[in-house]
Amino acid sequence: MQTLRAFRIHEDPSGPGFAVRAGFESVPLPQPSVGQVLLRVAFSGINYKDALAASGAGRILRRFPLTGGIDFSGTVVASADPRWHEGDLALVAGCGLSESHDGGYADYACVAADWLVPLPPGHSLWSVMALGTAGFTAALAIHKLELNGLQPGQGPVAVTGASGGVGSIAIDLLAARGYTVTAISRKPDQAQYLQALGAVQVLSPDQLGLGGKPLERAHWAGAIDNVGGELLAGLLAATMTGGSVASIGQAGGAALHTTVMPFILRGVNLLGIGSSGTPHALRLALWRRLGDDLRPRHLSRIAPHTIAFEELPTAFAGLLQGSNVGRIVVRIDPNAVVESA
Ligand SMILES: NC(=O)c1ccc[n+]([C@@H]2O[C@H](COP(=O)([O-])OP(=O)(O)OC[C@H]3O[C@@H](n4cnc5c(N)ncnc54)[C@H](OP(=O)(O)O)[C@@H]3O)[C@@H](O)[C@H]2O)c1
Repeated sequence: MQTLRAFRIHEDPSGPGFAVRAGFESVPLPQPSVGQVLLRVAFSGINYKDALAASGAGRILRRFPLTGGIDFSGTVVASADPRWHEGDLALVAGCGLSESHDGGYADYACVAADWLVPLPPGHSLWSVMALGTAGFTAALAIHKLELNGLQPGQGPVAVTGASGGVGSIAIDLLAARGYTVTAISRKPDQAQYLQALGAVQVLSPDQLGLGGKPLERAHWAGAIDNVGGELLAGLLAATMTGGSVASIGQAGGAALHTTVMPFILRGVNLLGIGSSGTPHALRLALWRRLGDDLRPRHLSRIAPHTIAFEELPTAFAGLLQGSNVGRIVVRIDPNAVVESA
């Protein structure tokens, strides 16, 4: 029987509460059934959700055991769907990988053909995973902010959790579109990095002077929030009339204590951003845009570290501790070439 190497996550019932155990295992090579495609995985990435899943710090998996990795890029090696052929290059991001289906931390992945996205123009198997779910989600947030009226020139746009994966890419994409970006980060030592990505100002959450009032001086034309909690409440209270705040993450907490005042007195929009449920047509369109008008300019700076598959277990801690900067790409296939485009 042919086997493959996979990073598997099991529920660990031995303790008092919810826990997982995760590590490398040899599992049978799946064969695609009708409507499925088998890919040789080239690269994957490490998203916050991957760290939660692999450590058990969050209940991400809906069944056990599963292979981790919420996204990957690779080459089709066998297809039971007429749209995909051996040698085609593709990526999958979200779609329930490492939640209800085996994910990308494996030599091979067998997935529904409907989930595959062709490599966007000008991108490589490496660069799409330097973007990964983080980059796709940043693009989705910008898409929704602009659908709700955000345009360059209206005022500053805040990005919180700025030094993380989503934050870094959001700054890069917003700045390239002509927005005046303020990076909000707890890491003063990363100010130079954030400015190099295009932030005109770098502030710590403390410098925002979050007062907890229902309405603060209207300052932000828009915002992308990866942190949640008090920071999100503070952004809502300080957003200009008609402005929008895109809520992506909860790195700082899931609770949101606010009032209706920003909504009813300033018409502020709170936009929910959920990447995994994005309809396929929009998913394809946004990935195409990531190769076109939403093309990142600083991917090599954002993802300077491509680690070997074997190093994966050591790489989750930084994300869980909030010390991560930028993106970490994982080279699953040792022969896959790291090329920015
Ligand atoms: N909605 C979706 O579809 C979707 C998709 C992808 C990610 N997400 C979520 O978006 C968030 C960011 O993901 P990511 O991949 O960018 O993670 P990441 O690389 O780990 O970055 C998270 C950043 O948030 C800040 N942070 C971390 N812990 C914090 C805390 N306790 N209080 C305040 N700030 C804290 C840090 O930035 P600074 O030190 O610069 O402040 C950290 O670098 C996560 O919550 C993730 O689950 C959601």
